[in-house]
Amino acid sequence: MDAWIGMMSGTSMDGIDAILVSFPADRQIQIHGTCTTPYPDVIRQRLGNLSQNRGSPDELGELDHLVGALFAESAARLMDESDLEPGQISGIGSHGQTIRHQPDGSTPFTLQIGDPTLIAERTGITTVADFRRRDLAAGGQAAPLVPAFHKAFFSDAHEDRCILNLGGIANLTHLPADPKKPVTGFDTGPANALMDAWCKDQTGQSFDRDGAWADQGQVNQALLSDLLSDAYFQRQPPKSTGTEKFNLDWVKTTLTRHTQVSGVDVQRTLLELTAITVAQQLPQHPGMTLFACGGGAKNPILLRELQRTCSPCTVTTTANIGLDPQWVEASAFAWLARQTLAGLPGNLPEVTGAKGERILGAVYYA
Ligand SMILES: Nc1ncnc2c1ncn2[C@@H]1O[C@H](COP(=O)(O)OP(=O)(O)OP(=O)(O)O)[C@@H](O)[C@H]1O
Ligand SMILES: [Mg+2]
Repeated sequence: MDAWIGMMSGTSMDGIDAILVSFPADRQIQIHGTCTTPYPDVIRQRLGNLSQNRGSPDELGELDHLVGALFAESAARLMDESDLEPGQISGIGSHGQTIRHQPDGSTPFTLQIGDPTLIAERTGITTVADFRRRDLAAGGQAAPLVPAFHKAFFSDAHEDRCILNLGGIANLTHLPADPKKPVTGFDTGPANALMDAWCKDQTGQSFDRDGAWADQGQVNQALLSDLLSDAYFQRQPPKSTGTEKFNLDWVKTTLTRHTQVSGVDVQRTLLELTAITVAQQLPQHPGMTLFACGGGAKNPILLRELQRTCSPCTVTTTANIGLDPQWVEASAFAWLARQTLAGLPGNLPEVTGAKGERILGAVYYA
């Protein structure tokens, strides 16, 4: 048994996705259990404030503890619901919760919280956490880290593939059929982060379920062009971004130049922004398939628009290559923990821009 727990909470700050998986053979993933723990509203709100630079060292310390406790609880629940004992689990990979991600500039940093000592202590399982900072120290973007996992499990000798994770931010991995060609990967820009923030601001709902609200609106071309003029979309990779850039203030600042656009049309335009920025940055290869994953893969309107903008590339989800779109990221962090404890690298320098391959994370022994 080669069983691992992977836990992830991304920029949407919706909650913790936890998975118990084993890797029975090369390129095989077997799922033993999954568990989603939504953040309580008050935690989500506090995390949101902290991530927008509103908070004190005490707030940071308290949230580190509270989020760590929730991650530990998720792992414990997963084990309760599965037929495995802690002794049968080789390790936990905990991404934690990103609070700030500022990889560019003279004082680059990336900050994930969710105290891993609590996870190791409360589960009795060796825990790997803080995956991103080593890549940053080696001159990389520290993101995206999932492309190494995509390469290990989803590459195909007969087909060029792209994996598109639609979390708060969208990240794209290109897996060439030719193994001699490099894998590329980067954040294309916002996915759900802006749609969630605008939806919450206008309707009080934390997200636009199935894109139903966006579907009632029309794309406003002037607003769309203005949003698309942001320099991030033109930048060459390696690049990564977060909600310190793409947030409600970014939308509202642009909207001061477009005062007549209705709320529903803004929502529809933000959805279009995600689809178009992916399409514009998509490597074009004949016969390529795009496999979406992450929460945005549950949004049929977003998938429809991706299919339209990315054509002739076929758009589907990772369910068609054996992994439920909701569990790709958490599985990746289970696998990254396995890499770390095996003394193997987890980053792809050609993706992050790091000086070389690095063993990622810090280990907190059981
Ligand atoms: N049925 C649905 N319809 C529309 N959007 C959905 C649906 N289900 C989930 N989502 C969107 O997916 C988001 C959560 O996705 P996910 O958990 O993959 O993102 P994340 O936590 O930001 O992860 P990361 O940034 O690391 O990829 C929600 O905030 C919501 O916007
Ligand atoms: Mg999430």
